[in-house]
Amino acid sequence: MSDTGLLASQITSDVLSQAIVPALAAFSIQAETAEHVGAREALLDRAMGKSRKRKSSEAIRRGRRPAEGLAFSAVSVSGELLGTLRLWHVAAGTKDGKPVLALLLGPLAVSPEAQGLGLGGALMRHAIDAASRLGHGAILLVGDPEYYERFGFSACETGGLAMPGPFEPRRLLALELSHGAIAGACGRIVGTGARIGEMGHRRFSSDGFAVAA
Ligand SMILES: CC(C)(COP(=O)(O)OP(=O)(O)OC[C@H]1O[C@@H](n2cnc3c(N)ncnc32)[C@H](O)[C@@H]1OP(=O)(O)O)[C@@H](O)C(=O)NCCC(=O)NCCS
Repeated sequence: MSDTGLLASQITSDVLSQAIVPALAAFSIQAETAEHVGAREALLDRAMGKSRKRKSSEAIRRGRRPAEGLAFSAVSVSGELLGTLRLWHVAAGTKDGKPVLALLLGPLAVSPEAQGLGLGGALMRHAIDAASRLGHGAILLVGDPEYYERFGFSACETGGLAMPGPFEPRRLLALELSHGAIAGACGRIVGTGARIGEMGHRRFSSDGFAVAA
């Protein structure tokens, strides 16, 4: 499944040279594959800096695989990786003595040359729609409310939750896909996804992609 974006009308000539406009203006959102991994890591370093690996969210993701069917790449018509977004299984504290199952979204990043053209928004809407169709109840993230509130995220229901390291409470945001899925949750957010390595009869690379049956 893929979404296609045609954004030429949003591009101003002072932002991008005419030579690269066509390449960035048309893109598709695809399931991430092993071929995207190297370019994804380089893109994340360029968009977010090497300090990204010290974030509290990274501690939740480290050593785990993204949620099945919820790792996406935005790819140009010429095959260049322009954006990346993945979601991860977490327990968002507990409610009534039971873990609150949710997804943690991130990192979201768009190649610096392609920012402001709608790719980030397209990736967000694609991921939210996919998570909803797969039956997930809620998505959490740590990010700027000024950007993420346009997709329905807010800090209204996250006051009882904590990251496993430093975080700004105003930037811990949630979107309920199912009414009441996060409301009342209290405690620390912990990763619950499959760990990288052996899983049954399948072996995974250091990035979580299956390499042998
Ligand atoms: C944040 C990011 C993913 C947005 O992707 P994008 O493709 O540039 O975003 P879009 O084109 O869909 O949307 C652009 C709009 O978002 C706004 N925006 C971008 N980042 C923002 C932020 N941090 N806070 C508030 N608004 C922001 C832009 O001002 C623009 O607003 P406008 O529509 O009113 O002109 C991208 O800028 C990026 O990769 N940044 C560096 C990495 C990063 O910060 N990731 C998020 C970690 S929480």
